[in-house]
Amino acid sequence: MNISVIGAGYVGLITGACLAKLGNQVTLIDTDKEKIEAIKRGECPIFEKGLEDILRTAQLDARSDIGSAIKTSEISFVCVGTDPGDGSYSIDLRSVSEVAEAIGEASNDHCLTVIKSTVVPETTEEVIIPLLEKNGRKAGVDFGVCVNPEFLREGFAVEDFLNPDRIVIGEINKQSGDILADLYKGFGCPILRFDLRTAEAIKYASNAFLAAKISFINEIGNICKELSIDTYNVAKGIGYDPRIGDKFLNAGIGFGGSCLPKDLRALIGQSVSIGYRPRLLEEVLNVNEAQNLRMIRLLKKHIPDLRGKNIGILGLAFKAGTDDVRESKAIGVINALLSEGAKVRAYDPVAMDNFRRLFPEITYGSAEAVLASDAILILTEWQEFASLDYAGKIVIDGKRILKARRAKIYEGICW
Ligand code: UDX
Repeated sequence: MNISVIGAGYVGLITGACLAKLGNQVTLIDTDKEKIEAIKRGECPIFEKGLEDILRTAQLDARSDIGSAIKTSEISFVCVGTDPGDGSYSIDLRSVSEVAEAIGEASNDHCLTVIKSTVVPETTEEVIIPLLEKNGRKAGVDFGVCVNPEFLREGFAVEDFLNPDRIVIGEINKQSGDILADLYKGFGCPILRFDLRTAEAIKYASNAFLAAKISFINEIGNICKELSIDTYNVAKGIGYDPRIGDKFLNAGIGFGGSCLPKDLRALIGQSVSIGYRPRLLEEVLNVNEAQNLRMIRLLKKHIPDLRGKNIGILGLAFKAGTDDVRESKAIGVINALLSEGAKVRAYDPVAMDNFRRLFPEITYGSAEAVLASDAILILTEWQEFASLDYAGKIVIDGKRILKARRAKIYEGICW
């Protein structure tokens, strides 16, 4: 199929690359000309397992002009960001709206527009479709519309795209859904088809549930820690119940990243705006916001006055397998350390450049240099941290690197 993917950020890059790998004719479109040139040279703008290989080998066109590609596309995927970027309880629809307007102006008849950008329920009907219809053509009559949320985990995004557990299609009408279902027909997983707002809601409910699972196990973990119980054994004991499941029960410093926190906030914001106060979701967020600061409390058990102390940080990425530092829990931990007067030295195998932009004032160095600090906090579960020598050190572990138990003083956050 002839496909255009608008927005060459995380979701657009994966979507475009994987659809091209599957034999579709894909044009990636982004206003960032430098990024487009890099993609054309076969370079990969993000650190994501398997993506570089696809970008180097797949036939993929890349442009910064939206109009020319849209005119010849059978399907246009909208993959631009909606993150307000300021921690607010809303979504930023500026990019989505611009793109919708541009598609409305440029697109040929019978073209299908697919919203992959994460938008709260009703957005496609209330905001996007009116913009697509601006030039007088009617959605569901002159052109098709679908919502097709992504459930990609960073670090496994290529694998998740090519082997999804389900594909969710929200459709304005059957004809629209049929085109998208046809694109995905070889995927061998359930394809679930609903109306537009249901598909939008599924994305938020999915991320809210995952976030709730983490805050749940962290809360159990905080209780267990006080009782000298290893939360990971408790998680194992409950995970065999298929109603609970054994995934996403790793207690630690809480969830970060580009999706779970912002989607939870947006869902809470929408819910409040329509007159319902979602108390459970609010607490999921509150537990998460307090969780990483437990690291400081545990550290102060052993070093009560942090003024002038060298504190080492192992791990800056929001999780292992990515260089993404968006809403990384390291941000809150390092801010707290600095405000206590500590000197911070940090190491991450891939995320130091990204983190340096946020915190130019701290020192960056090798893992060995970090190990020479007065105490070490482990904040990302990089495998290489398991092969470091922690003998004689004070270690506060937020990510369960068991080898660190050989430290002189070892504290797990929930174990
Ligand atoms: C998430 C969703 O998994 C994905 O479906 C959605 O499309 C985007 O958001 P991602 O942000 O890549 O993906 O990371 P994920 O692996 O889900 O982890 C999110 C956060 O939760 C990370 O900070 C991670 O460290 C934390 N986490 C995850 C835990 O603390 N415990 C767990 O058991 C699992």
